[in-house]
Formats: sequence, C-alpha cells, structure tokens
Amino acid sequence: MTIRVWTDGRGSGLLGPKGVRGTAFAYAAEAGPADAVSITMPVRLASWDSDFGLAPIFEMNLPEGALRERLRMAFAKATGSFDDLDLLAIVGRSQVGRLRYTDEHAVLDRTVPFQSVDELLASRRDGNLFQYLLERFAPYSGVSGVQPKLLIRDDEAWGGEAGAGEQTSIQGATHIVKFWENEYPQLAANEFLCLTAAGRCGLQVPRFRLSEDGRALVIDRFDLRADGRYRGFEDFCVLNGRRTADKYLGSYETAVLKRFREFASPGQIARGSETLFRMIALNAALRNGDAHLKNFGVVYDDVEGGIALAPVYDIVTTTAYIRADQMALTLDGSTRWPTARQLLAFGTTRQIGSPAVIKGILGEIAEGVNETMEQIRQHIRGHPEFEEVGKRMLVEWAEGIRTSLVE
Ligand SMILES: Nc1ncnc2c1ncn2[C@@H]1O[C@H](COP(=O)(O)OP(=O)(O)OP(=O)(O)O)[C@@H](O)[C@H]1O
Ligand SMILES: [Mg+2]
Repeated sequence: MTIRVWTDGRGSGLLGPKGVRGTAFAYAAEAGPADAVSITMPVRLASWDSDFGLAPIFEMNLPEGALRERLRMAFAKATGSFDDLDLLAIVGRSQVGRLRYTDEHAVLDRTVPFQSVDELLASRRDGNLFQYLLERFAPYSGVSGVQPKLLIRDDEAWGGEAGAGEQTSIQGATHIVKFWENEYPQLAANEFLCLTAAGRCGLQVPRFRLSEDGRALVIDRFDLRADGRYRGFEDFCVLNGRRTADKYLGSYETAVLKRFREFASPGQIARGSETLFRMIALNAALRNGDAHLKNFGVVYDDVEGGIALAPVYDIVTTTAYIRADQMALTLDGSTRWPTARQLLAFGTTRQIGSPAVIKGILGEIAEGVNETMEQIRQHIRGHPEFEEVGKRMLVEWAEGIRTSLVE
C-alpha cells in the first residue's frame, strides 16, 4: 500500500513499505522547504527510510489502547492483515497536527462530522457514550495515547484564540474527548483537577471541561488556529527519533530539556525552558508518573521557524491508582520523585534561573497546588463517587508539596 502524505493541505510526498518490516518516505518533486513533514526531516532528494515500521513523525498519532483495538477489529477483515500503514490510511484524514494521509490517488476530504460538546457534557448515556462516539468518530481520530479517546468537531464550542479575528467555519476536529476504563476510576476528574492546578501554576492550558457525570473530559485542541488550519505539532518521541514503544526511555535533562533547546527557535528557548522546569516540578508535586516523551511537545505555524513549547496536556495523579508509581523518565539518574533540593540543583545547573528564581517558582507551584486541594475537597462533596480517588489525590499532593517543593 502506498500512502500520500499531505502537509497543511498540500501533497508533500509518498510513503510505502520497504523491505520486510520497514517503510520509506519520498518527498514530491514540487515540495518546498515549508512542506517538510517534521522539523527532523527536511525536504531532500533522497528518501527517508526506516528499517522498522514508520518514521516517528508518521507513527506519532497512531491510536493505542482501546481505539486501536476497535479500528483493528473493524477494518482487519476488509484488509486481511492490519499494520501501521493500514491504520494510518484509516485515521489519516483527521490527525493531531498539520499532516494528513490518504490513499495514493485519493483527494483529501478533511470534513469531520459535527458533535455538540454541550450535549456530550450533559449526556445521560452512562457507559455508552464512548461506544456511541466510537462508532461515529473512530475513523476521524488520528490521536495517540492509551486512554480511550476520540477527536470530534464542534466549531462553535471551540474557544481557542477567542477574539483572534474572524472565525471561519472549521471543518476539521476541534476537541479531544477522553474517557476512562474501570482500571483507572474517575480518571477524567483526576485529570480535570490536575489541569486546574497547572493553570494555577503559571502554565498555559487549553480549555478543558468535565462532563456532569464525570465520565468524559473535553479538551480544546491547541493545534487548531482561528482560520481553521492546523499548526505543526511534534512530540518528544519524534524530536528524539524514538518509536512510541520507547516513550519511557531517557532523562528529563537530555531527552526533554536539552532536546527542546536544540529544536526551539532562539526567541523561545528561555521561556520554554522555564516552562519545562515548571512542568517537571508540577508533575513531581502532583505525583504524575506518566510524564513520558509523548506527553511533551512543540508547536509551530511554520516548520522553518517559530518552534515553541506546546501547552500542557495529560497530567494525572497516577499514584492515586499505583501507589508505588515513580517518574516516567529519569531526573538526576533516578525515577524517584525528586526532592526540592534536587529540583533546585536541576534548575540552577541547567540555567533555568538563579537559586532565588528557582525557589520562587517552586513556591508558586506549591501555592497553586495547595489552592487546588480545596477544589478537590469541594468536588468530593458534590460527587460522592469521586471520594475514594479524591482522598488519595489529597494525600499524594500534600506529600508531593512537602517533599518535592518545600522541604
Ligand atoms: N489539547 C490538545 N490539542 C492537541 N493535541 C493534543 C491535546 N491534548 C493531547 N493532544 C495529543 O493527543 C495525544 C494523546 O492525548 P493524551 O496524552 O491526553 O492521552 P492519554 O491517552 O492520556 O496518553 P497516555 O498514553 O500518555 O496516557 C497527546 O500525546 C498529544 O499528541
Ligand atoms: Mg499522553
């Protein structure tokens, strides 16, 4: 099977199998530097080959978990076999970021069906909402991650860049809807409260809403622009040239901070580095053991310049479920939760700021997290089903503040 790759609506090249397990991507003769599929893969005459599977940028948005399984079951019969190229062709028309994929000779139709966000937030379908949306939106959900989720379109409910000019009607997906399975009860409320804390800690967070029954979290896409076009987005697996399976490999020092400084535009380095430090410290305070390479990213309007750190996404208190959980990547050579002293050393030796600046940042995070603990208590009062997980979160956050921020 040969797939046409589209960059921001323009055909940029062809992707197909190579050898027994590999793939090759060749740019079209008419592709210019602005059509590069990744900041790691500039336009060139020679093809970009991968010995095993897809190059990281093409693998980046492949569904994992329940969504992948669902797509495999629905489409494997028709194709006989089912590999990553098949999956890419199925979800190719609707993806996170600015790349799209079709059959070699197909035209690109990017229209995603409409689904009201308000209706979804108030839905009384109990456990069936995910199944219902899955049937309609699975083939439009070019989005990675293990948790069940879908891409949907409600161009009226999308609040990104509000007031940024005339709103054209948006045909592509505008929101990510995340659900949870019984293995991780109340995960949506957990993430909702973690994102709330992030917003209070000086971090940029896209708009997010929790459904009334706590089963769904709806997040505005941060890669969508007011004119309906999509920004480039690349996660840190891509920037490190790693496959999705290796998302837990590496250190925050090298695979995240140093890599960011290598790829970010000069004007973005200082601010983005400080933001990364904040994210790492916040993840320690909230005991998020899932801050792996796919949970950080960069965004850009132009692949040749203006590469900035992406907003915060996917923060959860994983120790509410896995008590002994540790960090996803290493810091100071270890996956143990860092102490405040280790974070101070990390921030100063990596030139994030002076000791006074770093202490100030840790203090701001402690304050933001502490304020959000009151909101956890409130949420428990209004939602008894959240009590068990909410109480665990309170214990974890208190411990996180004490050991990783104050001490
Ligand atoms: N607001 C957003 N706008 C655009 N893309 C996003 C947004 N939030 C997340 N993404 C993209 O969607 C992917 C999956 O989302 P997310 O990380 O929240 O899912 P997850 O299933 O919880 O992931 P994990 O497998 O790490 O648990 C992210 O890796 C990122 O590429
Ligand atoms: Mg994730």
